[in-house]
Amino acid sequence: MIETKRLILRPFRESDAADMLEYLHAPEENCFACMKLAGLEEAAAEARKRAGDELYLAIVRKDTGKVIGEIFAHPEATDPDNEVMDTYSPCWMLSKDGQGKGYAYEAAYAFFDHLFRERGARRIYAYTEDHNLRSRRLCEKLGMRREGLFMEFVSFVRDPDGDPIYENTMQYAILRKEWEKGAGMD
Ligand SMILES: CC(C)(COP(=O)(O)OP(=O)(O)OC[C@H]1O[C@@H](n2cnc3c(N)ncnc32)[C@H](O)[C@@H]1OP(=O)(O)O)[C@@H](O)C(=O)NCCC(=O)NCCS
Repeated sequence: MIETKRLILRPFRESDAADMLEYLHAPEENCFACMKLAGLEEAAAEARKRAGDELYLAIVRKDTGKVIGEIFAHPEATDPDNEVMDTYSPCWMLSKDGQGKGYAYEAAYAFFDHLFRERGARRIYAYTEDHNLRSRRLCEKLGMRREGLFMEFVSFVRDPDGDPIYENTMQYAILRKEWEKGAGMD
C-alpha cells in the first residue's frame, strides 16, 4: 500500500467493482478500449483477477473511500537473458470526476518513487498518444523526457469500414539517477 496526502494506492478488491465500472464502462482513450467493462459482473471478475497484484493499484480517495482510478506497471527485462527486470511502463486512468484535481500527479509521483526506491526500477517509460495532452502534461510534470514520436505506431480500434485507426505515439522516460536529482518534484 502506498499513502499520499489525499490518496491510498492499494491492490484491487472485488468490492471495487462498482467504482471500476464507473470509469471503465466507456474508456475515454482508444488505448483502453480492450479494458472496457460491460457490467457489474464483468467488473467484479476483473477486480478478482487483479486482486493480489501488488503493482496493479486502485487509486482511492482518503476522504470518500472511493476508487477514482488506477495505476499499474510491471517489470520488463532489459537484457537478452531476461534476468534484469528493471524497466517499468506505467498506465494511468482516472474517472471523469477524479480529473483536474491533481490526483493523477499525486498518485503517479508516489508510484514512481515506490518503483525507483523499493522495486529497483532503473528506467520508467510511458507511451501516450500525441493528442492526449493531459497525459503528456502529466509525463512532463513527472520530470520525464520526451524521447520520440512514433508515427502511426499502433492501432487499438477500427473505423466503421473495418480499417485500423492508427495512433501517433509519444514516448517519455525518466531514469532513476534523474529522479534522485529531484526531477518530477512539485
Ligand atoms: C491522463 C490523466 C490521468 C491526467 O489526469 P489529470 O487529473 O489531468 O492530472 P493531474 O493530476 O496532473 O491534475 C491536473 C490539474 O489539476 C489541477 N489541480 C486542481 N486542484 C489541485 C490540487 N489540489 N493539487 C494539485 N493540482 C490540482 C492542477 O493544476 C493540474 O493542472 P496543470 O497540470 O495544468 O497544473 C487523466 O486525464 C485521465 O485519466 N485521462 C483518461 C485516461 C488516459 O488518457 N490515460 C493515459 C493514457 S496514455
